[in-house]
Amino acid sequence: MAFRWKVLENLARAKMKSKYDNNPIRLGFLASGSGSNFQAIIDNIANGKLNAVAALLISNNSKAYALERAAQNNIPCFHISSAKFPNQNDLDNEIIRLLDEHKIDILILAGYMKMLSSKIIHFMESRVLNIHPALLPKYGGHGMYGMNVHKAVCEAKENISGATVHLVDDEYDRGRILKQMEVMIDENDSAEQIAEKVLKIEHILFSETLIDIVEDRIII
Ligand code: GRF
Repeated sequence: MAFRWKVLENLARAKMKSKYDNNPIRLGFLASGSGSNFQAIIDNIANGKLNAVAALLISNNSKAYALERAAQNNIPCFHISSAKFPNQNDLDNEIIRLLDEHKIDILILAGYMKMLSSKIIHFMESRVLNIHPALLPKYGGHGMYGMNVHKAVCEAKENISGATVHLVDDEYDRGRILKQMEVMIDENDSAEQIAEKVLKIEHILFSETLIDIVEDRIII
């Protein structure tokens, strides 16, 4: 019963609605790997904290565990890669067709290891979010992804790192910063230990940003 009240309370707080109808906003995901960020978001939808619908997941990697997570949760999922669509324009058009068909309001890059073409960003009217495993503008830009980021943070002997959710534009890691969260680094932390700490807060930060968007505290 308490759980049902919590869900109703969250429904009442939600202000941003889908542009297609008056229902909760519809999220689409692009993921290349394990999809733990995707999982954290769909868990928060299931427990009523985030009033949204996970409507689509696309992966460029046929072996991505993210695809399995989507299938287990009955979320439409597709493998779309350059092996299937050697022509970049055809590949972009296929992604756009799916975003359109599944009425996606916000596109989320949840560990998507490819540059997104501007055609897709424009189709989404810039409602594309990415999570970066550092406190941008530090440790961002070309080549700064995955362990490269944490190795650089470790080598610089930073005592704070964190994660950033930002809008995606045509340049790597340069879009408007929406929300950040910090994490303390111990002197002896390895790059792997930093990565582990940062991933934990990514799982909180992504959903918190989406809740702020849905409840109109962040306008995109
Ligand atoms: C995260 O560290 C994210 O910052 C980066 O890729 C990783 C994705 O992990 N972009 P997962 O696939 O969500 O588990």
